[in-house]
Amino acid sequence: MKYIISGTNRPGSNSLKISKILQALYKEIGEETEIIDLQEFPLKEIDGTQYSKNKPTWLEDANKKMIDSDGLIFVVPEYNGSMPGILKLFIDHFEYPRVFVHRPVSFIGIGGMFAGLRPVEHCQQVFGYRNSFVFPDRIFLTNVWTMLENDQINNTEIMKLLRDQAKDFSTFVRALKTNGLHPNSDAK
Ligand SMILES: Cc1cc2nc3c(=O)[nH]c(=O)nc-3n(C[C@H](O)[C@H](O)[C@H](O)COP(=O)(O)O)c2cc1C
Repeated sequence: MKYIISGTNRPGSNSLKISKILQALYKEIGEETEIIDLQEFPLKEIDGTQYSKNKPTWLEDANKKMIDSDGLIFVVPEYNGSMPGILKLFIDHFEYPRVFVHRPVSFIGIGGMFAGLRPVEHCQQVFGYRNSFVFPDRIFLTNVWTMLENDQINNTEIMKLLRDQAKDFSTFVRALKTNGLHPNSDAK
């Protein structure tokens, strides 16, 4: 299973809309995915004591899912030149290094004029530091709100980019698993 992380808790977010579009594209190629929606992040239960243990159930479950996952697909919106704080908070509650090491990760940036380039590069720093396998073909959606109509993307070129990324990320993950480089590969 691959997980799509919708990188903000903003109600009505474009990240969640893009996450649902991605989920449909992965389904087209026979890949089941689940969306982790950060609107469900249990902020009220977080008091700083949960970094290593005693995580709220939702976070504990999310960690287990990620440890068992084939790969993680992040939809990263740009907030003030970086990723939203809630996304970094979520990442900081991953069981490290276990969730990160050799875990394949893929990124779609969304934003205004700069299309989420900065938050994706900040994520790449974090996951690069933690030795994840970062899929190189990132996608950036400029002025994302202009390309969404009835929660669908109205641009065939962008849809092709997203479709190709989904297909190629799946191949990337399969290659890592087949060759014993994936944390969950049978060959390990
Ligand atoms: C708090 C906040 C800060 C933002 N800062 C930036 C920014 O620095 N650069 C940018 O291009 N867009 C910025 N935007 C625009 C968002 O990237 C854009 O609206 C995107 O759709 C946000 O994702 P969301 O709809 O999933 O919340 C900001 C939006 C919000 C809500």
